[in-house]
Amino acid sequence: MKAITYHRYGSPDVLEYEDIEKPAPGDNEVLIKVRAASVNPFDWHFMRGSPYFLRIVAGLRKPKMTRLGVDVAGQVEAVGRNVTQFKPGDEVFGVCREAFAEYARTSESSLVMKPGNVTFEQAASVPVAAITALQGLRDKGHIQRGQTVLINGAAGGVGTFAVQIAKSFDTDVTGVCSTRNVEMVRSIGADRVIDYTQQDFAKGTQRYDLIFDLVATHSLRAYRRVLNPNGTCVIAGGPSQVLAILTSAFEVFVLSPCASSWRPER
Ligand SMILES: NC(=O)c1ccc[n+]([C@@H]2O[C@H](COP(=O)([O-])OP(=O)(O)OC[C@H]3O[C@@H](n4cnc5c(N)ncnc54)[C@H](OP(=O)(O)O)[C@@H]3O)[C@@H](O)[C@H]2O)c1
Repeated sequence: MKAITYHRYGSPDVLEYEDIEKPAPGDNEVLIKVRAASVNPFDWHFMRGSPYFLRIVAGLRKPKMTRLGVDVAGQVEAVGRNVTQFKPGDEVFGVCREAFAEYARTSESSLVMKPGNVTFEQAASVPVAAITALQGLRDKGHIQRGQTVLINGAAGGVGTFAVQIAKSFDTDVTGVCSTRNVEMVRSIGADRVIDYTQQDFAKGTQRYDLIFDLVATHSLRAYRRVLNPNGTCVIAGGPSQVLAILTSAFEVFVLSPCASSWRPER
């Protein structure tokens, strides 16, 4: 089968289009005929080997894993003998490790059925970014109906899911983004939008029960000032991408929490 591979770190020029062996699913795995795969920041970081400390996991001199692609949608081609939820022909989407290829395999638990009214392209754009938003708000932030929620970085890949997920919990949502994205963030459900080029939410009078931070533009002290007593701050990204890449890697390899949460002592 054809696959995108890379054997050294660098710009997109390091990517190669190669013939490699078609994989077979393990006992608990599903083999997917890939119909769409999206490019996640995770792929960018692993292709570049950046930030440098990432190479402790990915390979010091060259990548240990030579394939990319964590978000996938496609049709089930074959299943391992312990797989019970899927059968050949099913349309699925989810998280995997080597989606930039004709076929990809992943564990049964990393996939769900694709709704019929969603295209493969749409489905492939959801997995890691949306899971990050869901884990950050629900699992780490323990979001509750009626809370005031601030999404810092609301216009991005994770932030746009976060705004919509927070609204689905019936909360009052404030999104922070730049001028060009104000209308878009409002259109996906934010009750209020703060344009960070005009206003600093950390200097405002509004208090929040939950801050979901994807850009880490402020100190913990600044967040504390605008958190309600017992409020929670969940951080899933950072300017240097340091925390973000750690959490991304964690999510994909361990399939566990994406984010760090912090509740200031009062
Ligand atoms: N995507 C994933 O699946 C994933 C998973 C785990 C962790 N992460 C991490 O989470 C972070 C966000 O990822 P992403 O994919 O959502 O990135 P993204 O698509 O690049 O979005 C980042 C957003 O941050 C906004 N932004 C920039 N400066 C800002 C500021 N000073 N205040 C508020 N917002 C600002 C930008 O909005 P404007 O364009 O309006 O300036 C941009 O839309 C990254 O650190 C990433 O590594 C991402």
